[in-house]
Amino acid sequence: MAENVPSGTTPDSAGWWRGAAIYQVYLRSFADGNGDGIGDLAGLRGHLGHLADLGVDALWLNPWYPSPMVDGGYDVADYRDIDPVFGTLAEAEKLIEEAHGLGLRVIIDIVPNHCSDRHAWFQEALRAEPGSAARERFWFRPGRGDAPPNDWESIFGGPAWTRVPDGEWYLHLFAPEQPDFNWTNPEVREEFLDVLRFWFDRGVDGIRIDSAAVLVKDPDAEPDGRDPYTDRDGVHDIYRAWRRTSDGYGDRALIGELWLPDQDRFAAYLAPDELHTAFNFDFLGCPWDAAALRRVIDTTLETHTPLGAPPTWVLSNHDVTRPVTRFGREDTSFDLNERRHGAPTDLRLGLRRSRAAALLAMALPGSVYVYQGEELGLWEVEDLPEEVLEDPIWFRSGRTDRGRDGCRVPIPWSGDAPGLGFGGEPWLPQPAAWRDLAVEAQSGDPSSTLGLYRRGLRLRRELLGYGGMTWRPMGENVLAFDRENGITCVVNLGAGPVRLPEGREPLLASDPLERGELPPDTAVWLR
Ligand code: GLC
Ligand code: CA
Repeated sequence: MAENVPSGTTPDSAGWWRGAAIYQVYLRSFADGNGDGIGDLAGLRGHLGHLADLGVDALWLNPWYPSPMVDGGYDVADYRDIDPVFGTLAEAEKLIEEAHGLGLRVIIDIVPNHCSDRHAWFQEALRAEPGSAARERFWFRPGRGDAPPNDWESIFGGPAWTRVPDGEWYLHLFAPEQPDFNWTNPEVREEFLDVLRFWFDRGVDGIRIDSAAVLVKDPDAEPDGRDPYTDRDGVHDIYRAWRRTSDGYGDRALIGELWLPDQDRFAAYLAPDELHTAFNFDFLGCPWDAAALRRVIDTTLETHTPLGAPPTWVLSNHDVTRPVTRFGREDTSFDLNERRHGAPTDLRLGLRRSRAAALLAMALPGSVYVYQGEELGLWEVEDLPEEVLEDPIWFRSGRTDRGRDGCRVPIPWSGDAPGLGFGGEPWLPQPAAWRDLAVEAQSGDPSSTLGLYRRGLRLRRELLGYGGMTWRPMGENVLAFDRENGITCVVNLGAGPVRLPEGREPLLASDPLERGELPPDTAVWLR
């Protein structure tokens, strides 16, 4: 059991990202400013007040670049501009300025593993000859007869190779419209350092690095018993170069999307000359179970503390089942490769647990993420009509896996007119019942999920501060810990009520206490 583990988040070494609460804006589904049914920069700029009121420190935007949107913008055609559906580069610059004016930092998403097949480099490569310099920026190879160069499979399903008219094949770990860059090519390395500078020069405070572990690969190599493209040793050189660039700008953060089961391998990315933080997917995927959560929290602290890197606490994002749905199922874990669409769920129970989980995540030392709609208690929309599904996972799985659209449905703001205040008719239809979960409907009700998030994030900022935590033994099914500044968090994952420590004042509970006791699936902060 970890005792008094310092989090590595001391004010002396403070960088803003060490203790930040970061709100993830899935731009296409946040707010639609021009009424075409797709969220955009005008919509976001009009609702920045929501983020300031919520009490977060930063926002992270999913890709906003020109894109055919085959994978929701993770197919980037130009890394130095904004897709017209979202707005203009000038508007993006205004957004950064306005966010800064409200005390909000801005993190953008960079996609270095692949681009769009519409990217100028890939178009040039298609026109060029086999063996040409233009093709060397990607992975073009001859096939084995009529078969692809090797048997790698795409992460979205199907083969990882697509053939072009002259007979060569190119590699795409994701959709065929997302050709992989060849990171052994110095031109590719230089290009991305320049893209980083482009955005840092425009005031961006941090970079979320998409699919950060899969950049380095060698499709010609003989199998060596390790995954041929995930977490190859050579990837660290890339991030050391990125860190030198970001350090040149001062307090800018590099945040890795790393799905790696091995903690030592994960930790290597958080070396002082590499990334500042990385998403905690072990926490995100953890079942609603005290022993499992305690293990993940301990391992997280043990991994981060020696490095002086702040842990992150993440419950959801645009790729995973919303916690209200997940926590209401019999199996409450999340696994990327097994989405459990349509497994029975109890949304009331799921909401109750999600609220408790939110207070847990906010009380832990380090930085915390909130994915848009989490603060409203939105659930996964599992009954979207098949005709509206857009996720390449749906198509690449032969329409067997519904993919990720269910967590990307536009969020409700106000009223009961179609769109619920989102703007035009949303690109994915919202459940009518979300009317009651709209920002306006929940505002002013402190017992609402929005009220809980607002109060939780504010108290977190005022009281929790930096410093470590010490477990407090309160029984097998209870997670309880003291933070250094005297706040205690207690979460009841058992079936019966829990008696709280004497003489402490409850500051905030995820659901009402009963006769001074903590009911099942509830969390409380005590002073
Ligand atoms: C990351 C993104 C996901 C995207 C994939 C390919 O996992 O979060 O949405 O589909 O990378 O870019
Ligand atoms: Ca729009």
